Amino acid sequence: MNFTLPQATVDAREVDALILALTLASLIVLVLVFGLMARYMVKYRAGSPIDRGKPPQKTWRLEISWTIATLAAFFGLFIWGADLYVRLFQPPANALQIYVVGKQWMWKVEHPGGQREINALHIPIRQPVQLVMTSEDVIHDFSVPAFRIKHDVLPGRYETLWFTAEKAGVYHLFCTQLCGEGHASMIGQVVAIEPEEYERWLGGGAKGETFVEAGADVFRRHGCGGCHGDQGAGGIGPALAGLYGAEVKLADGAIVKADEAYLRDCIITPQKRRVAGYPEIMPSFAGQIDEEHLLKLIAYIKSLKRKAPS
Ligand code: CUA
Repeated sequence: MNFTLPQATVDAREVDALILALTLASLIVLVLVFGLMARYMVKYRAGSPIDRGKPPQKTWRLEISWTIATLAAFFGLFIWGADLYVRLFQPPANALQIYVVGKQWMWKVEHPGGQREINALHIPIRQPVQLVMTSEDVIHDFSVPAFRIKHDVLPGRYETLWFTAEKAGVYHLFCTQLCGEGHASMIGQVVAIEPEEYERWLGGGAKGETFVEAGADVFRRHGCGGCHGDQGAGGIGPALAGLYGAEVKLADGAIVKADEAYLRDCIITPQKRRVAGYPEIMPSFAGQIDEEHLLKLIAYIKSLKRKAPS
């Protein structure tokens, strides 16, 4: 535990309070158990003139009360921790999405407007931010101690993390998973700034295409429209417009929700989750699209809305 570490997010205080409560509860048990042990070791030491003739009777009142007291205390801690965990993993719908790709040995960050940075993450304060993270190669771990966040970043999967920074400042960003020779240099900084300042920052600097525009480009280059229609309207292959968030019936009868992970699977391992009613002709794009472009392509597919029936 490091009490000198700044608490830069709303949840940081609660995480600290929970850890403190756990430590105190463990400390009380420790003192009680070792205290009683020490006391009886002295009291019943060899040669002490104590009367060992009449052992005390078992009392149910004592037995039941300590069992219930410890059960209540630790169950309370469990509920507190579980509730906090669930909240930490449910981003609010209005969260600002920023994409993070881990790579030996750097963090590549891309903002929805197309602004990129390396080993740095600019975020507005007092606004929920959701990171969508993946890795280009091995397992990394995105950790910002001042925010009390730490999450594995895995190849082939999208992991998300969200937080609301409270205090403006520059905070350390670490990779906390041994990921090879350059692991120790896989560090950076999180720059938390006022929302107006963030807007200014987004406006300045090198600005490429937006995420969705770049994704449309990937869609064109790989000829996705050949089967899925112009702007994903559908054709030989299923329609992509309006697909994100919808429920999809698979060939094996299962029903899945079309989230980011599902879209990714469809592109990389299409034979794994085939959509009902379509021929088995979707080729795999594994090895042809890297993680950064895949994120963009998925952002584009997410942006496609179903046309209102005319
Ligand atoms: Cu990446 Cu350690």
